[in-house]
Amino acid sequence: MTSSDSVTAARPESTGTDGPPLLDVRDLKVEFRTRDGVAKAVNGVSYRVAAGQTLAVLGESGSGKSVTAQAIMGILDSPPGFVTGGEIRFKGRDLLTLGREERRRIRGTGMAMIFQDALSALNPVMSVGAQLGEMFQVHRGMSRKAARAEAVELMERVKIPAAKSRVGDYPHQFSGGMRQRIMIAMALALEPDLIIADEPTTALDVTVQAQVMDLLAELQREYHMGLILITHDLGVVADVADTIAVMYAGRIVETAPVHHLYRAPAHPYTRGLLDSIPRLDHKGRELYAIKGLPPNLTAIPPGCPFHPRCPLAQDVCRTDRPPLHDVAPGRTSACHFWKETLDGAR
Ligand SMILES: Nc1ncnc2c1ncn2[C@@H]1O[C@H](COP(=O)(O)OP(=O)(O)OP(=O)(O)O)[C@@H](O)[C@H]1O
Ligand code: SF4
Ligand SMILES: [Mg+2]
Repeated sequence: MTSSDSVTAARPESTGTDGPPLLDVRDLKVEFRTRDGVAKAVNGVSYRVAAGQTLAVLGESGSGKSVTAQAIMGILDSPPGFVTGGEIRFKGRDLLTLGREERRRIRGTGMAMIFQDALSALNPVMSVGAQLGEMFQVHRGMSRKAARAEAVELMERVKIPAAKSRVGDYPHQFSGGMRQRIMIAMALALEPDLIIADEPTTALDVTVQAQVMDLLAELQREYHMGLILITHDLGVVADVADTIAVMYAGRIVETAPVHHLYRAPAHPYTRGLLDSIPRLDHKGRELYAIKGLPPNLTAIPPGCPFHPRCPLAQDVCRTDRPPLHDVAPGRTSACHFWKETLDGAR
């Protein structure tokens, strides 16, 4: 185990939650064994989510956000994917030690996932009412009629207009935004304790994105669920998340309460992400882009994995992996120069 992994594992509370952990991921490692080599997709991720809390997970494409979520849900594509280390504690039980059947049961009732693409996640040849109703028939033993009534109620909860008359419609008959609401309804049906939303609004128009995100945040508060919100988009999470974890090359490089992170990031990668979002007060100014590409996960650079792209890199960054430092209460940064980064941002 490397120093940064052990620090992360020993201080899971540093991901910034107060209540008892609903979900407590410790030093999780996942690799994909492929013909091209072993891709180290998740390299010691630790985070916690409490009931009623929203954790946003942010990072460029390929940083391991979805794979971490798939490991938590127990839906990792295996083979080629394998969990090679760590724990996933859900309400105190390590999910990695449970049998297939038990995990399936938890997936049905304890936690649910919302995907980016509702059209491929929903069954195209079944009406939405039948799909929603099936959840109540299978898990709650309800009659078809009672389950359909529940389906209509759920559709109303997610604000689908004329739910009663649309309950027999098929997924393709709904707009993208409405389909995403149906996915949210499916996820909520059995009132799970935890929802993982993986890029839930990425495929939608900007105005619809905001409506769907507001709905998700409202329902999360109402049901007092834990929510993990995975996104590329810093703009989307500002109003809804409590805490942010930023991932790079399968590691968490910074965690912070959302507003602290926006005001003054403590990791150069986060700063790069922030500088690359359009801001009204910077109108006319050219947008910053982080140079280069994320690393090949079969050959992650030594030292700080971000060093080939980092404007602040020094010699030490090329040889020594930075541990996850506590930079303030509830804040961590995996950068040798977190102080300078933080001071520079203030
Ligand atoms: N089914 C798979 N087979 C082989 N490798 C995979 C598979 N799924 C993921 N990986 C590897 O894991 C890495 C991380 O993937 P992941 O889907 O977690 O990225 P992400 O952060 O969710 O990115 P995005 O923002 O594009 O969704 C990928 O770059 C790839 O190397
Ligand atoms: S450790 Fe070095 S290379 Fe890595 S983010 Fe900090 S300054 Fe940049
Ligand atoms: Mg993803």
